[in-house]
Parts: sequence; structure tokens; C-alpha cells
Amino acid sequence: MAVREQDVEAIVRQILNQMSGSAAPAAKAAPAAGIPKTARVAMLTELGKFEIKEFPIPEIGDDDILVKVEGCGVCGTDAHEFKKDPFNLIPVALGHEGTGEIVAMGKNVKVDTAGKPVSIGDKVVTCMIFKDDPEITMFDLNKKNVGGADVYGLLPEDDVHLNGWFADYIFIRGGEFGSTFFNVSDLDLDSRILIEPCAVLVHAVERAKTTDILRFNSRVVVQGCGPIGLICIAVLRTLGIENITAVDGNEQRLQFAKRMGANQTVNFMELKGIEALTEGVKASFGGHLADFAFQCTGNPHAHANIYKFIRNGGGLCELGFFINGGDATINPHFDLCSKEITLVGSWVYTLRDYVTTFDFLKRALAIGLPLKELITHRFALEDINEALETNLAMKGLKIAVINNK
Ligand SMILES: NC(=O)c1ccc[n+]([C@@H]2O[C@H](COP(=O)([O-])OP(=O)(O)OC[C@H]3O[C@@H](n4cnc5c(N)ncnc54)[C@H](O)[C@@H]3O)[C@@H](O)[C@H]2O)c1
Ligand SMILES: [Zn+2]
Repeated sequence: MAVREQDVEAIVRQILNQMSGSAAPAAKAAPAAGIPKTARVAMLTELGKFEIKEFPIPEIGDDDILVKVEGCGVCGTDAHEFKKDPFNLIPVALGHEGTGEIVAMGKNVKVDTAGKPVSIGDKVVTCMIFKDDPEITMFDLNKKNVGGADVYGLLPEDDVHLNGWFADYIFIRGGEFGSTFFNVSDLDLDSRILIEPCAVLVHAVERAKTTDILRFNSRVVVQGCGPIGLICIAVLRTLGIENITAVDGNEQRLQFAKRMGANQTVNFMELKGIEALTEGVKASFGGHLADFAFQCTGNPHAHANIYKFIRNGGGLCELGFFINGGDATINPHFDLCSKEITLVGSWVYTLRDYVTTFDFLKRALAIGLPLKELITHRFALEDINEALETNLAMKGLKIAVINNK
């Protein structure tokens, strides 16, 4: 439902009164002046096509928050939806790596999911929506955190409409709906856009730590230098791990990996066959195999290869298959048993990883890592089709939609 005409009149009256100094300060829940009646949403209406639609801004309930979107990253998942609709969501308001400013909120909204106070003007991100199990809290480190959770930007279309971040406004529904959100006013816009992908790596490194193999002086291989591998290097570097070898076939990405904290690179295009590649990795560590490896490509061959780079008793974190990329063939005797490799899988993150990520971003910037340079392309909302095409063409690294209206 739209903000009713009489509400708008009341707000205007209140503001005029305030300007003449004759009224009490505006209540917290009152929408700020200048909130339009409608908002534009980029709707994926068919495969490969977003349309800009206009929807009414609903009335703000006591637990709801209206956020004016500042920007949102384009994720590989958005690209899959754009191309194939694997989740069968069309028509859908996409965008889950978004951030913006609170412009209105209900009277019950006082703190964010971590207990930090929030008010109008604060910058926020959303995380998971626990529709199935609202009892789960951010302090639940259980893997259950992942199951049964949705995110804004991948929700079935409903009568609210404003539930994806590729829009002018997003309507964060509180109460029973179980939305989680965080006040991240102390981070700049680019950092806020990078929170979601960075949380994936904070989680992967937490998973890796459970093996008890990762140490300050470990020799670590990061295979794949897309945004995920590059952020992996940054998280490791921020933790104080210094001996990192990046593996990829793209020299430009390998050079970026060095700036992100890798001190050696191996270009697999220059080394034919797994023996030569293994020797290349070994040479990068002065004749040693890796203590630990992170697999950050969606290529099953890369999964099979990576065991060869790891020493006996070493560890592996496989995080490259957010979606099914097909089967990989390994030799369980040579690759796993006789080497006694400790293997962990990693998939998305917990709520708690989100909060760790805010601190990671501050530390990474403080030690001069060029994290923000991951955002290589910026598009206006009306150019969202081009933004997705750019992602699919594998141009640049992180593509973002920025609202500067
Ligand atoms: N675990 C999770 O929750 C999670 C979350 C997001 C993404 N992912 C996955 O992480 C993977 C990487 O994401 P991205 O956005 O960085 O993708 P990307 O496609 O931008 O990067 C992949 C990189 O791997 C390199 N590569 C391909 N084959 C290789 C090989 N055999 N050896 C070495 N390098 C190779 C490519 O050159 C490229 O630079 C994706 O497959 C994605 O599904 C996982
Ligand atoms: Zn994502």
C-alpha cells in the first residue's frame, strides 16, 4: 500500500511547523520528508531481461525499515538467475549485496541484529531471513544457520515488491518475517557493497581453522583469483599469514593477487600438465608443498589438481562450488588417505561471520590492501541489463549498480 495522501499532508504540515519552530520534534517512525510515493525496482521479468518497474512504497509498520538504496554488487548467483532462472523465481527483484540509508522506520526498531542502536540516516546491510526458524540468532555458530534462510534479492515476488536491492528503495520487514540487518555506518559505500562476498571468505577461513593446520607461518595456496580467491588472499593476509601462492591462468588477476597479499604467483597456462604445475607450486615455496590450500574456482579439474599441491598431513578448504559444477575425479588412495589430508567444505556464512567481516574490512583497508579496487565497473539502475552482461562476459572483477539519484 502507498503512503496515504493524508500521511503525506501530515508530514508536510509537521515539517512546515518545525521550520517555524512551533511543533514537537518528529517522531522516530515518521517517514522523512522527500520519500516518494513510489520506487523503481529492476525486475527480472524474463530470461536475460530486467525491466524498471514502479511500485508503491508500502506503509511502514512498527517493525519495518525503509532503506534508500545506495548500491548493490552483482553476484554470480544474479548472473545465473539472469541467464537460466535455476531457482524458478521470475518475475523477481534481484540484488542481495546491497546497502543504503535508513529513511524511515517503525517505532519498535531500536537496535540492529547485533544489538547496535539504529536511527534514521544510518547505513545498513541485510543478511539472512530466518523464515523457518526465527529462533536462530547470530550467536548460533551451528551450521543450521545456513539451512532454512532466505535473503533479500532472492525472494519470490509478493505484494511488497521492494524486496531486492536492485531498486531505489528496499522495504526491510521485521517481526515474524525474521529479517536480520546491521548498522554499518562506519564503513564507506564500496566496503559495504563488498560485505557479502567478504563474509564468504571469513567463513571459509573459519572453516579452515577448524582443521588446526593453518598457522601464521603456513605455506598456503589459493587456487583461482576471481573476486572470491582475491578476497581469500586478503582475509589470510589480514590474519597475518604471509606465505601465500596464488594460482590462476590470468596474468592480470595474478598481479592483482600480489597486491592483495600473495607473495608468489603460478600461472597454470605456462605450465603444461599436473606434474609441471605441482613443481611450479613447489618452487614457489622454495621446494616445499603447501601446508594448506583454498580451492576458489568452480572447475572440477581444479579440485582434482589441488590435492597434488598439498603436503602429507596438510589441509584443504573447498569453497569453489556454490552451485553444482559437476563431478571431480580424484584418487582416494594417493590424494586423501596416504597423504592424510584434512578436508573441509565451505558454503556461504553464518550471521556471526557477517559481524567479523565488518572488522575484517576495516583491518584490510588499514593495512593498505586494495580491496575497493575489486569494484571495477559501476552502472546506474537503468543500465542493469548492461551490468549483468558485463558480469557474464567476465569483464573486470566486481560489477556494482550504484544509485546516485
Ligand atoms: N562457498 C561459497 O559460499 C561461495 C560463494 C560465492 C562463490 N563461490 C564460488 O567460488 C567460485 C569463484 O568465484 P569467483 O566469483 O571468484 O569466480 P570467477 O569465475 O571470477 O573466478 C574464478 C577464477 O578461477 C580461475 N580458474 C579457472 N580454472 C582454473 C584452474 N584450473 N586453476 C586455477 N585457476 C583457475 C579463473 O581464471 C578465474 O580467475 C565460483 O565457482 C563460485 O561458485 C562459492
Ligand atoms: Zn552473492
